[in-house]
Amino acid sequence: MPREPSSGSSNLVAPQPTRRRVAAVVLGVLACATWLSDFPQPAPLACVEPPGDTRVAVRVHCGEASDCAAAQALAIDVWSEHQGPGLPLDLVVYERDVPTLEAAGLRPEVLVSDIDAVARAEAQRLALPEIQKPSDWFGEFRDFGAISTHLGQLAALHPERATLVAVGSSIEGRPLWALRIGGQHPGSTPMLVNGAQHAREWIAAMVTTCVADRLVRDYETVPAIREFVDRTELWVIPVVNPDGYQYSWSSNRYWRKNRRGSHGVDLNRNFSVAWGGSGSSKEKRSEIYRGEYAFSEPETIALRDLARREHIALHIDFHSYGQLVLYPWNHTPAPAKERGRFTAVGDRIASAIYAAHKTSYSLKSGAQLYPAAGTMSDWMYGEADALSFTIELRPKGGSGFVLPPEQIRPTCDEGLAAVLELRAALD
Ligand code: ARG
Ligand code: ZN
Repeated sequence: MPREPSSGSSNLVAPQPTRRRVAAVVLGVLACATWLSDFPQPAPLACVEPPGDTRVAVRVHCGEASDCAAAQALAIDVWSEHQGPGLPLDLVVYERDVPTLEAAGLRPEVLVSDIDAVARAEAQRLALPEIQKPSDWFGEFRDFGAISTHLGQLAALHPERATLVAVGSSIEGRPLWALRIGGQHPGSTPMLVNGAQHAREWIAAMVTTCVADRLVRDYETVPAIREFVDRTELWVIPVVNPDGYQYSWSSNRYWRKNRRGSHGVDLNRNFSVAWGGSGSSKEKRSEIYRGEYAFSEPETIALRDLARREHIALHIDFHSYGQLVLYPWNHTPAPAKERGRFTAVGDRIASAIYAAHKTSYSLKSGAQLYPAAGTMSDWMYGEADALSFTIELRPKGGSGFVLPPEQIRPTCDEGLAAVLELRAALD
């Protein structure tokens, strides 16, 4: 059983440059640190305080497991997918704790010197009047309203191959929009592509919208797209967590979960395969809070019901960041029965992505990075029998969840390459 974080505020001691001091600090923040044993993503929200303190994203180099644990104990949030000894680890810490990491020999590199300033700068850019009137729609990030309008326009433009369907609604009543593309011919392969289970991963919402856009508009001119659309019934749901997504636009750029209560549920821990296992938390304030029970959330229910009703055979769940192609299992290091198939297809996907812009995505099983129980991909594979991948989009590290808007189009090329290649691999 995973251990759970206990409540209480963190009690950080002023840093001093000795290893023993690090241990003391670690003990001091133990209230925030017990989530470590879960190999979780971010730390519990209770650890995020007090406002006014500069929050820095750093990459540390931990040689041993104990170093990683010491570093994670100081973290307000863990950003990286790669977690383990010998791997660089991206963390958010208070600026005042950077010397402690240095003293521990973890060689912290500053990735983002003030994550909140970066978010403010992004918000200011997005508030500019020229951005509100988009001429180059994929030249900038878009909120849920704009994405919904765009999907509607695609369906109106080519009703013969695209239909906009609400497959459910969120806790706050927002429609879970799916653009159904193709499916004109009998025997079409049912496929599902979704983004933004995690609110702050804006690039995933943009890339899935852009993939839909390309498939709908370029049908006549690009043979590979015509071939795909003629043989596939593709459901694209760019934003499966619209409440969280809007909240990350309006209130907290780094919000991850849905908007259940004031705490939220991590949708990607709310599916029933291995629900409640390690890499998820029963604590509401945790960033990997799994919910009261499996499928407690309308958003995960809608995805489950769609996958069952449509007999989805192929699936990609887009996230950011890390440039990774991940296959099941996510909850256990035990190999999936079809491991050979996953690695063969995953290899093709990573190569197709590379061919687009020479960007490397590494192929791994999810649990090779760290266990995560109750994920969508494990459910799609384990219960719905789909060939399912989780793709962590750009960047590899660096700026994390806030990306320059110029990255949207090239990342879209990579997402489209992955979607086309997964379908082609089925033949
Ligand atoms: N970033 C995703 C999440 O935390 C990835 C899940 C799969 N990754 C893994 N290491 N098991 O939900
Ligand atoms: Zn994610």
